[in-house]
Amino acid sequence: MDHKNWIAVLDFGSQVTQLIARRIREQKVYCEILPCYTTAEALRQRQPAGIVLSGGPQSVFGENAPTCDPAVFALGVPVLGICYGMQLAAHLLEGAVTAGDTREFGRAVMTVENRECTLFHGLDPTLQVWMSHGDKVTTLPAGFQGVASSRDCPYAAMQDPVRNIYGVQFHPEVVHTPQGGDMLWNFAMQICHCEPTWEMASFIEHAIDAIQQKVGSGNVLLGLSGGVDSSVVAALLHKAIGPQLHCVFVDNGLLRHEEVHDVETLFGDAFGIDLHVVPAGPIFLERLQGVIDPEEKRKVIGKTFIDVFAEKARTLGPVEFLAQGTLYPDVIESVSPTGGPSATIKSHHNVGGLPADLKFQLIEPLRELFKDEVRAVGRELGLPSYVVDRQPFPGPGLAVRIIGEITAQRLEVLRQADLRVREEIMKMPNHLDVWQYFAVLLPIQSVGVMGDSRTYENVIAVRAVQSLDGMTADWFKLPYDVMDSISNRIINEVKGVNRVVYDISSKPPSTIEWE
Ligand code: XMP
Repeated sequence: MDHKNWIAVLDFGSQVTQLIARRIREQKVYCEILPCYTTAEALRQRQPAGIVLSGGPQSVFGENAPTCDPAVFALGVPVLGICYGMQLAAHLLEGAVTAGDTREFGRAVMTVENRECTLFHGLDPTLQVWMSHGDKVTTLPAGFQGVASSRDCPYAAMQDPVRNIYGVQFHPEVVHTPQGGDMLWNFAMQICHCEPTWEMASFIEHAIDAIQQKVGSGNVLLGLSGGVDSSVVAALLHKAIGPQLHCVFVDNGLLRHEEVHDVETLFGDAFGIDLHVVPAGPIFLERLQGVIDPEEKRKVIGKTFIDVFAEKARTLGPVEFLAQGTLYPDVIESVSPTGGPSATIKSHHNVGGLPADLKFQLIEPLRELFKDEVRAVGRELGLPSYVVDRQPFPGPGLAVRIIGEITAQRLEVLRQADLRVREEIMKMPNHLDVWQYFAVLLPIQSVGVMGDSRTYENVIAVRAVQSLDGMTADWFKLPYDVMDSISNRIINEVKGVNRVVYDISSKPPSTIEWE
C-alpha cells in the first residue's frame, strides 16, 4: 500500500503512550495516537508509513484485555510492538507469552545479539533499557528471530525482517532508555522510510484541512477563556474558517486586571474574530453572595458559567459545532473494555453540562498535543508571548484567591495587589521559570501604623511556585529585593492592605491555590 509520511500509534492504555508520539514528532515525523480498536481498513485508508503498538497495563490473558485487529499485521506496513504491544503481536501471531510471577521493573542491561537488526543500527551492542512488565514472550511466532536479551528476558527484542514486524519488551520512549530515541529514529526512517519534514507549520496545515473538511459551511462556537489552549484554538479556527467562528468570552468579574480588555484587543480588534464578550460580573457576584466554602464557590461559578454561556449561544443563530481546547493530557489514559482512551471535557472550560437544547458536534484540534507543542503552534500562528507563555489561571479565577466572602470591594483589593505581584516578578529575567505567581487575600485584619495613626487592614499572601505539571510544586525562592519591591508596592499603593506575607509551603502537603 502507498503510504503517507506519518506513523500511527495504537493505544493500549500505557501511561507513556503519549511519549511515543512525542518522541516521533521530535524527529520531525507526524505521529497520531489512535484507539487500539482502530480497524485495519481504517488504517489502510489513512495510509500510515508505520504502526506502533503501545504498552498497556494489562496481561494478554486478562479478561477484557485490549486487542487489535489481527489484519493490522497483514497491511504490509511496518509494525513495532512495545511491551504489551510486543506481547500482543506474539500472542496474535501464534507465539507464546508466559505470565510472569514477578514484575521486571526498572533499569536493565540488554545485549543485542543480532547486530544486523535495523532497529538497533548504529547502536552499542550493550544497551541500558527501561523494563516494566510481568508477562514475557517465551516462544517466537513463525518467521521471527530473537534479536536481543536481558538477564530476565530471553526475547527483549524480536523481529520478522520479511514482514517488517518488530517487538521490544522495554520502553524506548522513556528517558531511562538513553538510546531509545535512536531506536525510534531507526524505525521511522530506516524501516518505515519516513522523511523528517514535519514541523509545527505542517501540523497547522494538516489541522486546518481537517477542520475545513469537518465544518464545511457550518458554524463553530468557542468559549474563549484567554488561557493558552482556548486562545490557540481560536487562532487556529480563525485561520481555518474565518467568519464561521464565533467566540464567546464570559466576563465573570473574577478576572485579573485588564484581562477582558486584552482579549478584546487581541482577538476582536487585531484578529478580527466575531467575539462576543458577555459582561456577567454582577450575576456571578450576586450568586456568590455569602458563599465561603471553596467547593461551593466552584459549583456556583461553574453553573453560572453554563447559564450565561448557553443564553448567549442561543442568540447566535444555528451553530453546529463546539470547539474545545482539550489537550492530550486531558484525555483519560485508561483503556475501556473495548479499548482506546475515552475523552473527558476539561472541567474548567465548563461546557460539559450544556442544556439539552444545545447540541453540538465537538471539534478538538489540539487533542494530540502537549502543552509546549500547543505553545509552539500559538507562536507559529502569531499569538504574542503574553498569551502563549501565560501562567495557568484557575477557571474560578480570583474567587478561589479570596479566602472568605467575595465582594466587589475585596475583588478590587486583590486585583490591584495581584497586578503588583505580577509586574514585579515579570521584571525578573528568569520569570518564565516561575510556574505560577499571584496574590491571595486573607480573611483577617492586622494592626499597622500609617503616619501617626493606627490602621487595621487586610493581609495579602504572595504565592510563587516552581512546578513541572502542577501536580507537585515547590515554593519559589524569590530574590529578597523582588519580595521587597512587591511588599512595598502593595502596602504603599493598594488601599486597604497594611501587611504582606510570603507563602513558603510546597505541594504536597499544601496545594498551589489556597482554596
Ligand atoms: P492546586 O491548587 O490543586 O492547583 O495545587 C493545581 C493547578 O490547578 C489550578 N487550579 C484550577 N484550575 N479550575 C481550574 O481550571 C479550578 O477549579 C482549579 N483549582 C486549581 C491551579 O491554579 C494550579 O495550576
